[in-house]
Amino acid sequence: MNEENQGLFTRCIHGGQRNCEVTGAVMPAIYTSSTFAQESPGIHKGYEYSRSHNLTRFSFERAVASLENTGLTEEQDTTCGGFAFASGLAATATCLEMLDSGDCLLAMDDMYGGTYRLMSMVRERSQGIRPVYVDMSDFTAVESAFKEHRPRMVWVESPTNPTLKVSDLARIARIAEDHGAIAIADNTFCSPILQRPLDLGMHVVMHSATKYLGGHSDVVGGVLATRVPEIAERLRFLQNSIGSILGPFDAYLCLRGIKTLGIRMERHSRSAMEIARMLEAHEKVERVVYPGLPSHPQHEVAARQMGLPDGPGFGGMITMYLKGDIETARRFLENVRVFALAESLGGVESLIEHPAIMTHASVPPESRAKLGISDTLVRLSVGIEDLEDLMADVKSALDAC
Ligand SMILES: Cc1ncc(COP(=O)(O)O)c(C=O)c1O
Repeated sequence: MNEENQGLFTRCIHGGQRNCEVTGAVMPAIYTSSTFAQESPGIHKGYEYSRSHNLTRFSFERAVASLENTGLTEEQDTTCGGFAFASGLAATATCLEMLDSGDCLLAMDDMYGGTYRLMSMVRERSQGIRPVYVDMSDFTAVESAFKEHRPRMVWVESPTNPTLKVSDLARIARIAEDHGAIAIADNTFCSPILQRPLDLGMHVVMHSATKYLGGHSDVVGGVLATRVPEIAERLRFLQNSIGSILGPFDAYLCLRGIKTLGIRMERHSRSAMEIARMLEAHEKVERVVYPGLPSHPQHEVAARQMGLPDGPGFGGMITMYLKGDIETARRFLENVRVFALAESLGGVESLIEHPAIMTHASVPPESRAKLGISDTLVRLSVGIEDLEDLMADVKSALDAC
């Protein structure tokens, strides 16, 4: 059966994979060798040096390429357009190297704080790129930014971290294409189970594999995937030239994580929907932001571009504003017992955090205020524990604050 015709859950397990030709092993070995013997100078089995060629990493890269529907064959690109890195930020940093000094980079105004830090506090100085931030959930703002700044790259996160704004990826991809800009989507919050940006016309998709792909909060990694052969060629050159690759042990963990991605995303999405509904009705909660709620400002776009293979699905991330002040938020966060108060997201365990103090401290206070990353904003990453336990935990912490 042709892989493109297989369902996503089948591809989580088999996509881009083949059994070992020597032993029949169904999982690749963790190839730790940094180098590979050659029969004669330049005559080898396709593996020279592990930064450039590592079969464990290749297996993970091909798995992501399959799930993100790159459609590239191994003849077009060794790993079918998938590229794995030491972290999500290493993937982003390598991707930014497609820009030249002086190029404008149009980026979402609300996104992971570390991405903002990399663009504005590192690469603007060292690479000379010109980041411009707009609210891409407002397409009119995107159109005027294109006219005014003529960007060469567009960077969108949808839903965003932490205010869960949703942008219309197909429209953004079209305007980028019309202007000859490279369109990139950070798909970390959705994973390819809920959203496949390349199918919507984006040129490159990026993930922090630390999150849902790995899924167990035990690995840091990043990945890029593209279906454009010329971009795959550039990324292959950049990945090898910069060298911030994912190591074989971590590639193995990411690949193992992907096997259960489908059922995990199903569970994250269903539990988060229930918790979001409960929170929205709770007297101590000012406002809940969850793309699955009809009250979400871009709910219709979310329902169109996100979803599980057999029905609605909006992921495991919820943002809420508590009534009260920073002390209320602090008491609430000190009183959860099943949710762990920790940065990161997307693991099997439920996590909760305070973006203004924790993940988004690197965003300047005035930008945080503009984006609504206030002192009472709390972000939840709903795990796959029993829903009743998660509900009871959140309710009792709310009672205590
Ligand atoms: C949406 C998003 N993109 C990128 C990153 C960066 O990934 P990493 O921490 O793996 O470098 C994160 C990390 O939290 C994230 O949430």
